[in-house]
Amino acid sequence: MHHFDYRDGVLHAEDIPLPRLAVEVGTPFYCYSTATLERHYRVLAEAFAGQDAVICFAVKSNSNQAVLKTMARLGAGMDVVSEGELRRARAAGVPAEKIIFAGVGKSREEMAYALSEGIFSFNVESEPELVALSEVAEGAGVQARVAIRVNPDVDAKTHAKISTGKSENKFGIPYLAAIPLYEKARRLPGLDVSGIHMHIGSQITDLAPFRDAFRLMRDLALELRREGHAIHHLDIGGGLGVPYRGSNEVPPHPDEYAMLVRETLGDLGARIYLEPGRMIVGNAGLLVTRVLYVKDGAGKRFTIVDAAMNDLIRPTLYEAYHEVWPVLMSRLSGPRVMQDIVGPVCETGDYLAVERELPAFEAEELVAVMTAGAYGAVMSSTYNTRLLVPEVLVNGHEFAVVRPRPSYDDLIGLDRLPSWLAG
Ligand code: LLP
Repeated sequence: MHHFDYRDGVLHAEDIPLPRLAVEVGTPFYCYSTATLERHYRVLAEAFAGQDAVICFAVKSNSNQAVLKTMARLGAGMDVVSEGELRRARAAGVPAEKIIFAGVGKSREEMAYALSEGIFSFNVESEPELVALSEVAEGAGVQARVAIRVNPDVDAKTHAKISTGKSENKFGIPYLAAIPLYEKARRLPGLDVSGIHMHIGSQITDLAPFRDAFRLMRDLALELRREGHAIHHLDIGGGLGVPYRGSNEVPPHPDEYAMLVRETLGDLGARIYLEPGRMIVGNAGLLVTRVLYVKDGAGKRFTIVDAAMNDLIRPTLYEAYHEVWPVLMSRLSGPRVMQDIVGPVCETGDYLAVERELPAFEAEELVAVMTAGAYGAVMSSTYNTRLLVPEVLVNGHEFAVVRPRPSYDDLIGLDRLPSWLAG
């Protein structure tokens, strides 16, 4: 559920009409809804209410300070994958003891910084990384709390590029290698290895792969405890999907997901850590763009808009489907045309929607690309020397530009001329 609706014939973000934002910030821009963010967090928190569980928002899905602060105020911890994300989480006021540092390749500098901040735990993905972390921690005179990420070889049945829990994926250590690695890790002086981490993929719309992974996690926890390891926390990752295609795609409800966690892991007496990103912020954001031109090609229509693949790369990178809504509701009852929604970037792959029956849009009108709150702005770039897309956060009848559009001077001014070309 989200808080983007037509009121008086115009698409609103909560109480704010999108055309008003377009006048204020220009197009394209991302728009997020506070009420939607809060609702999704609360639904998940309530689903886990009876369990000892900590929600660590996956910063990679949307790292805007205003979004992170909204999450932090609700009590969320955070899952970070770089020093930059850790700095963002801390800047948004997230207590260090609620931060988990994941990722397949942390540098020693990043480890040292995270230890100096006093984060809760590291999710470690290889033996050499365990050794490095132990050395860095010893050097700093501390012990690093660790969960080892185990790859359960479970098919999450999602897009290949966002599937992480198969043996051919780079993530984690093989399930069968876990016991000997925990044994080795126990002997490393800088580590307190007391958790297990799994994350099998993203945009998962079926509970079965989670069930398989959680059962394997359970077996491993029991086996490790039999071997004398203290397993205090289980990090079950993120991955719960969202409905990109309205009611045609119904991912499991957080209540069902929480029930499954209780059934499979609930009696182990270990604290559960969750790392949701998309399910909290996906539906809480959209990308507003303006139609520049409409062109009828030989076989189909191209609606050329001012947002492009550099602003939202998901359609071309993952064949992702995002609904496209007219900002004017009257368009919904008008004629429909088979068309591609494309951007101005010089690439054939520059599209936001392909072969869709959509309203016959006209130049200058606004359209909204839905469910763009997760992995939208964070993956944007300045390709074709296009300015980084701005972000707006709405809260009831208030709104704020939470990342302004930079100027061309800002962007070009990042480059430096070498001495032999200067002057
Ligand atoms: N935890 C770990 C270890 C992860 O790798 C991820 C996402 C998450 C949690 C959060 O997953 P979520 O709850 O958001 O599904 N750019 C892609 C998605 C990449 C996901 C990467 N890892 C997309 O646009 O679909």
